[in-house]
Amino acid sequence: MYFKKQLIVMFGVATVITLSIAATSPQQQEPPKLVNLKVFPKNIPFRVLDHEMDEWSESLGVHCNFCHARNDQTGKMDFASDAKPEKEAARHMFLMTAKINKKFFQAKKDSLGMIMATGVNCNTCHHGAAHPEVKMP
Ligand code: HEC
Ligand code: HEC
Repeated sequence: MYFKKQLIVMFGVATVITLSIAATSPQQQEPPKLVNLKVFPKNIPFRVLDHEMDEWSESLGVHCNFCHARNDQTGKMDFASDAKPEKEAARHMFLMTAKINKKFFQAKKDSLGMIMATGVNCNTCHHGAAHPEVKMP
């Protein structure tokens, strides 16, 4: 009987500790708010955008700062800023790619409403270079 009681108390304490840890630790860290989207769907989940950004960087062989400016005051990247012309160029490239896929590859929209990259993607032309050679062989 004594043991049983002790066991129940122990379980109780363990539950309280577990619950309080769960309550204090941020269960799921809030992803950063996306505030300046002009070509991606406004409701794009952060992880999807992040994945897209990684793909663009790798296709062009660049780092984030090729398109994104740093805030001089804070010294941190300001991803929402449109200060760099490369960012606007990338928007045009994104729209162009979507148009090619839609028109010539009959690409469907995904669940977010984005045209799927069925035919061409950034890497088809860029192959790891920011400035693909624009010349005939
Ligand atoms: C080739 C250019 C390019 C590269 C490289 C790039 N981005 Fe982007 N990024 C963009 C464009 C264009 C947008 C805006 C999309 C839109 O208008 O819908 C954007 C938007 C974002 C946003 C959303 C900002 C907001 O609040 O509106 C984040 C965050 C971001 N990029 C992070 C990154 C990270 C991290 C990397 C590096 C891994 C990266 N980007 C590399 C072009 C680029
Ligand atoms: C059909 C081929 C093609 C596709 C697909 C393509 N690009 Fe490009 N991109 C080019 C060419 C060619 C240039 C160079 C234009 C020039 O130098 O005048 C270029 C230039 C750029 C530039 C400008 C570089 C600078 O310094 O001005 C950016 C940024 C860029 N592309 C991003 C992208 C992204 C991001 C994607 C995918 C969403 C993409 N491109 C898809 C062909 C393509």
